Amino acid sequence: MLKKICCCCCILVVVLGALSGTGWFVIRQFSPSKSVIYKVTDASLTRFNLTAANNTIQYNLSLNMTVENPNKWNDFHYENFEAVASYKNQDLSNSSLAPFRVGHKNSFVLTPSFEGQRLVALSNDEVSNFRNSTVFDIVLKLYFKYWTKIGAVKINKELQMACYFEVPLSSGGKSAEKFDSTKCDKA
Ligand SMILES: *[C@@H]1O[C@H](CO)[C@@H](O)[C@H](O)[C@H]1NC(C)=O
Ligand SMILES: *[C@@H]1O[C@H](CO)[C@@H](O)[C@H](O)[C@H]1NC(C)=O
Ligand SMILES: *[C@@H]1O[C@H](CO)[C@@H](O)[C@H](O)[C@H]1NC(C)=O
Ligand SMILES: *[C@@H]1O[C@H](CO)[C@@H](O)[C@H](O)[C@H]1NC(C)=O
Ligand SMILES: *[C@@H]1O[C@H](CO)[C@@H](O)[C@H](O)[C@H]1NC(C)=O
Ligand SMILES: *[C@@H]1O[C@H](CO)[C@@H](O)[C@H](O)[C@H]1NC(C)=O
Repeated sequence: MLKKICCCCCILVVVLGALSGTGWFVIRQFSPSKSVIYKVTDASLTRFNLTAANNTIQYNLSLNMTVENPNKWNDFHYENFEAVASYKNQDLSNSSLAPFRVGHKNSFVLTPSFEGQRLVALSNDEVSNFRNSTVFDIVLKLYFKYWTKIGAVKINKELQMACYFEVPLSSGGKSAEKFDSTKCDKA
């Protein structure tokens, strides 16, 4: 009698073990194991003018970005995708992008643009530096929500990223230097 119970226990343990092993394998296999890659691939700065009299920067910046999904099974759905361009820690403006989806093993191109004028607080050093510059350090901050599915289970996430790059001011439609594609990092 005791032997029989013991045997049953053994079988149960083996079956449970096999089930959880398979479950773990399936979840792993179908989970988004690779990070989505966010990149700024091109930038064009056609206006970046500081008027010292009223501490205003007039800017016109357009960007090309890619969102690359290297995962085999998961599609990513983006909502509330907000891009904020900033210079010397001061936000210039926001660009809200329409919801989009990046399929598995696929990528999506975004083209946020920023245009307008902004009151800024710069030190004297920063102002004289600005005067001599033809290349500017821009930080692009990304705020967004996305969801993906593992099988039937929907997973929601919220994320912040930052992309640091230099943009040459282009005059007459031509830019002095080639833009270096930049990967964004978690902020
Ligand atoms: C972005 O991509 C478009 C289409 O490929 C291209 O015409 C444009 O020059 C690129 N660069 C910027 C800064 O928009
Ligand atoms: C930038 O400002 C300078 C004078 O400060 C002016 O000569 C020039 O036309 C302005 N450029 C643009 C694109 O606004
Ligand atoms: C700042 O000064 C420039 C040049 O005079 C002008 O074009 C711009 O509209 C001014 N901006 C503000 C916010 O007053
Ligand atoms: C900003 O740049 C875009 C193209 O890069 C151009 O179509 C637009 O007229 C520019 N705006 C201003 C205010 O210069
Ligand atoms: C820009 O976006 C950020 C992050 O979503 C938000 O906190 C901020 O209020 C926005 N600013 C404007 C002017 O919309
Ligand atoms: C900035 O340019 C002025 C002339 O326009 C020059 O006298 C000065 O040395 C330059 N400063 C730097 C840091 O390059």
